[in-house]
Amino acid sequence: MQRIFYPRRGWVTSEAMTQQQSPDQIRRAARLEEARAEHQRLAAEVAAHDIAYHQQDAPLISDAAYDALRRRLDSLEARFPELATPESRPRIGAAPSEKFAKVRHAVPMLSLGNVFAPEEAEEFVARVRRFLGLPEDAPLGITAEPKIDGLSCSLRYIDGELVQAATRGDGFEGEDVTANVRTIREIPQRLVGENVPAICEVRGEVYMTKQDFAALNERQLQAGKPPFANPRNSAAGSLRQLDSAITAQRPLHFFAYAWGEMSAMPAQTQFGMIAAFKAFGFQVNPLTTLCTSAEELLAHWRLIEIQRATLGYDIDGVVYKVDDLDLQRRLGFVSRAPRWAVAHKFAAEKATTILRDIEIQVGRTGALTPVAKLEPVTVGGVVVSSATLHNEDEIARKDVRIGDTIIIQRAGDVIPQILGPVAEKRPADAKPYAFPHVCPACGSVAVREVDAKGEVDAVRRCTGGLVCPAQSVERLKHFCSRNALDIEGLGDRQIELFHTEGLVMSPADIFTLEARDKRAMKKLKDREGFGETSVRNLFAAINARRNVPLNRFIFGLGMRHVGETNARRLARHFGTFEALRETGRAASDPDSEARTELNGIEGVGDVVAEAVADFFAEKHNEDVLDSLLNEVSPEPMEAVQTSSPVAGKTIVFTGALERMTREEAKAQAERLGAKVSGSVSKKTDLVVAGPGAGSKLAKAEEFGIEVISEDEWLTRVAG
Ligand code: IVH
Repeated sequence: MQRIFYPRRGWVTSEAMTQQQSPDQIRRAARLEEARAEHQRLAAEVAAHDIAYHQQDAPLISDAAYDALRRRLDSLEARFPELATPESRPRIGAAPSEKFAKVRHAVPMLSLGNVFAPEEAEEFVARVRRFLGLPEDAPLGITAEPKIDGLSCSLRYIDGELVQAATRGDGFEGEDVTANVRTIREIPQRLVGENVPAICEVRGEVYMTKQDFAALNERQLQAGKPPFANPRNSAAGSLRQLDSAITAQRPLHFFAYAWGEMSAMPAQTQFGMIAAFKAFGFQVNPLTTLCTSAEELLAHWRLIEIQRATLGYDIDGVVYKVDDLDLQRRLGFVSRAPRWAVAHKFAAEKATTILRDIEIQVGRTGALTPVAKLEPVTVGGVVVSSATLHNEDEIARKDVRIGDTIIIQRAGDVIPQILGPVAEKRPADAKPYAFPHVCPACGSVAVREVDAKGEVDAVRRCTGGLVCPAQSVERLKHFCSRNALDIEGLGDRQIELFHTEGLVMSPADIFTLEARDKRAMKKLKDREGFGETSVRNLFAAINARRNVPLNRFIFGLGMRHVGETNARRLARHFGTFEALRETGRAASDPDSEARTELNGIEGVGDVVAEAVADFFAEKHNEDVLDSLLNEVSPEPMEAVQTSSPVAGKTIVFTGALERMTREEAKAQAERLGAKVSGSVSKKTDLVVAGPGAGSKLAKAEEFGIEVISEDEWLTRVAG
């Protein structure tokens, strides 16, 4: 007698079934028997692919083929739910566009300025002294520690418990990698020791040793997978796995060297903070040293450089940091890097190779960029096969010709640079490169603009505007890129495809894609390279971006001269997109109040103000915006600095300042949203006058402008 297992009923004999079931049920039971065999086969196949994909990092079939198998299994289980088993449930992390949640950093994660020559390192120390007004003989402690070549990570502990881990991302918003970080042994789940602050954000570098990297690559190759380029990439790839079981198998390490939000400071110096992190249970770099002069820093730099090869992990320089945290606070930041720290990098690595060809790429602003196509060569552990040649003049200046043997250089993350040709190896028939005067993408004339001062732009630009397919597709890529809308699953390849097929020609089309796909005969999911799951995820990712931070939205529009920093400045100043748009439109007249307002935003000068005005003056852009704003709502941004008592004011410092240097005063005022000017005019709001103030003070009195002392200034801004 036959026995059948039902998940909800247990074993049932076919005799028992016939006794209890209707003819319909009997027929269904027969079909179920057939389905069971099919299900077993499919489930086994899917399981094998899951193992290959997740545990061995080596998929055996394309995502589309996998999706098809999965769909068959799903539909079988939909018809016969009793067949579903835990093993046949969808694989974890299978969705290609499943995303990490975003984490907004309580304190931004900034980058470091670089220096290369010893004199530049000496200048860093001198600059710090000047800024602080420290006499030459006053002591100044600076720490030196290796710059680890990994990826930075911020770990948030509340009452000593690890609650969140985030990658750096764009410095303001990173990805939540908590589950993965919990698998790293060197990262404590719970902090130990005395005086652990209630909120304690420890930052540092996740890295992989050279030995572990080599072993991992060996496994990758054996599994038929492409190897990682270097230990840093493999550490990043390992940390950003959707399945933390994979991260757990990757040997990652961590050095603590910085911090974010702290409810209390365990020390008052950089060196003391690192010692505190060690006491809390972190690994800290043993080569960290406290120095007292530029000479000592350079000596330590040389010592670390000598040890570089035998350290076991990659480093690309030495980081110098002012030790006293009060001084760090006074020094503050310029743009996105601290004034109190700098990375002293090691010399770049060089190699020679052959220049096979020069390709011209057309960017979103129509710029024609020459790209050198090289015979692949390894420099600094990375295979390089192309490098930028920047522009026409650069090619002429270096006189590089197709067929030349050239020297290339690569330092850290920096894109490889072409230093120049090896003259003796030039082939007899090599001709100087003739830069094209027409756009390779659309055939329009490409010109070099001449500005008001008669200076010729270094860049040759296509005049085709949006007629040029290269420009419009590049604008779309920019709009979706990581620091703009950041639409997961809508990478360069997909955009190119959608653009070629006429599905997405302007940003708003991205957001109407789903609705149009519903009505279309040929669906996205049926296209090569897109399964049902990936299309579903793509639409979800698109919809998730219907609300987007204002600065990202502005950056995504790709106005000329409006990069990330200026986008953030505009967002902060205007708070809403409507406010920016209104001023941008009104600013087309160079003498308008609106133009003056744009001009007056700290860091935004004439060139940017004009570019913003030009953008809004262009009818086509207005149309694009109208359609786009039907789909997307840029989130208003709080104007951070408007709350300070001097925000928006124009201030002049004059006379001698006794409590801070002029440079420090300026930086402080700017941090609080004020504009610092060198001369007194009717537009000046406030003059801070120290002893010896002369004509500026007189002028201020003449115009009836408020004048205060340095002490009064400090009291005013203290709150
Ligand atoms: S300090 C505010 N110290 O370098 C300064 N950074 O170029 C915070 N890095 O994103 C950074 N080793 O990933 C600091 N000992 C070290 C470092 C280090 C590596 C990386 C870090 C950062 C990047 C900045």
